[in-house]
Amino acid sequence: MRLPAPLTPAWGVLQELAAQRANFDLPAAFAADAEREQRYTRSAAGLRLDLSRQCIDESVLAALTQLLDTVDMRGAIESMWRGEPINNTEQRAAWHVQLRRPAVMTGDLTRDMTRDLTRDVTSATAEVLAERRRMLAFADEIRASGAFDTVINIGIGGSDLGPAMVVQALRSLANGPKVYFVSNVDGIALHDLLQELDPARTLFIICSKTFTTQETLANAERARAWILEHLGESAIPNHFAAVSVNAAAMDRFGIAVDRRFAMWDWVGGRYSVWSAVGISLAMAVGSARFEEFLAGAHAMDEHFRTAPWADNLPALMALVGVWNINFLKIPTLAVLPYSERLARFPAFLQQLEMESNGKSVTREGQPVSWETAPVVWGEPGNNAQHSFFQLLHQGTLRAALDVILLRVSPIGDTKAQSLATANGLAQIETFAMGQQGADAHRRHPGSRPQSVLVLDELTPRALGALIALYEHKVFVQSVVWGINAFDQFGVEAGKRVCNEMLATSEASATSPASAMDRDAKLRSVRQLLKSLGA
Ligand code: F6P
Repeated sequence: MRLPAPLTPAWGVLQELAAQRANFDLPAAFAADAEREQRYTRSAAGLRLDLSRQCIDESVLAALTQLLDTVDMRGAIESMWRGEPINNTEQRAAWHVQLRRPAVMTGDLTRDMTRDLTRDVTSATAEVLAERRRMLAFADEIRASGAFDTVINIGIGGSDLGPAMVVQALRSLANGPKVYFVSNVDGIALHDLLQELDPARTLFIICSKTFTTQETLANAERARAWILEHLGESAIPNHFAAVSVNAAAMDRFGIAVDRRFAMWDWVGGRYSVWSAVGISLAMAVGSARFEEFLAGAHAMDEHFRTAPWADNLPALMALVGVWNINFLKIPTLAVLPYSERLARFPAFLQQLEMESNGKSVTREGQPVSWETAPVVWGEPGNNAQHSFFQLLHQGTLRAALDVILLRVSPIGDTKAQSLATANGLAQIETFAMGQQGADAHRRHPGSRPQSVLVLDELTPRALGALIALYEHKVFVQSVVWGINAFDQFGVEAGKRVCNEMLATSEASATSPASAMDRDAKLRSVRQLLKSLGA
């Protein structure tokens, strides 16, 4: 059994180093080492990661890297790649890397993707490829037909956040139907959209691994009623497609068999944008761009799997995160993309990081006595400068920062992009170096730990690499902390109580006697519902 890193001697070494570096002075570190920026900057898969403004030095980085060997990280990676049940509490693989493997390896790896793999991996690989081809062919068919001018993705969580974020990020390349996303159970987003749309030209994609998620089913039923009202029952098969593992539910809804796209139980929702869950991106930009998106993630996968730790971007990001959370005791991570096209990237990362590593027991079910996932938050950096940067610069609570910069404007406006980048660089400098200021009110302490990620251009490939970078960072941290990144029991409870509430509410409306038999908790909940007029 793999011991969590906090229970090994390597952790104690870092605790001593942290005690000696309680007030790490970044300006002094840069003054003492003219090569610092170069020394702590790495590149891979088209991304550049600059860690020189993290509060680390060579001793800290060496001790952090030791953690990886202490927890046999190479072994953990190989288990993931082989499709072993590393999601131990649900006895499932976490095999999202399989979703973006190319049909045939190119470049220096001439082997095809099925060689050197066990039988079941080979069959899963074939299934993934077949489903990818079906999904992409359908997307290209819809785009070429011109039958629909609007596609609405109905989903929530991983069935919404990833697709919505990538469609926005690559909007400059969109040349198909307009794609919208509805998720909130209150129905307002769908209501507002349907006021303006032509039912005859609207295609709905119901995106739900389980096809039981209450919010998604509620919105899907509203959409179905809208098509029924305007076009009749016979139109349902032509105006709906679905991505799910639940065939029986799709039967009941009336999804045509050739418009169903598979998911697998070894893909977590927050890791699923590479599968048919990403069909809305394929509808927007076409199959060729979607394959570039997959290729970017695959490039980051190969880097993660083969690069030495000293050059390994996901491993390095994970380690500086562990240093900030567990040793510098900084409990939040602010993600600050300096591009409007990445405005939803912080929201996407909230699910990826906090639903994966927001855990307090180890893989074996033992309570942890160390911090795990940070609170992840953020906004486009330029806007954030005018909202919460005051606290980040001069507040008593500190946050670790991930600043993301683009070199090339997604809309071809070089001047505007230069302004955005100049703002980002100015903030990065001030966070790191501080400012003396005329008096205490105007003084910036500086030494705010930050990672700076630079993408030359927001291409499908760069976006794929960026997402995969964070997926693997989260995985590395989960192994260091000894937790399972791939279940999410914490969100199941709320769903269950909500369904009980609703059942109670219906029951109390129909048979007060039976409802009164429910336990006190539900009775109090019933009172709340009644007071809300529900
Ligand atoms: O938030 C809980 C969760 O299960 C997520 O993990 C998932 O992405 C989301 O709900 C939606 O689930 P489904 O795709 O099954 O509708």
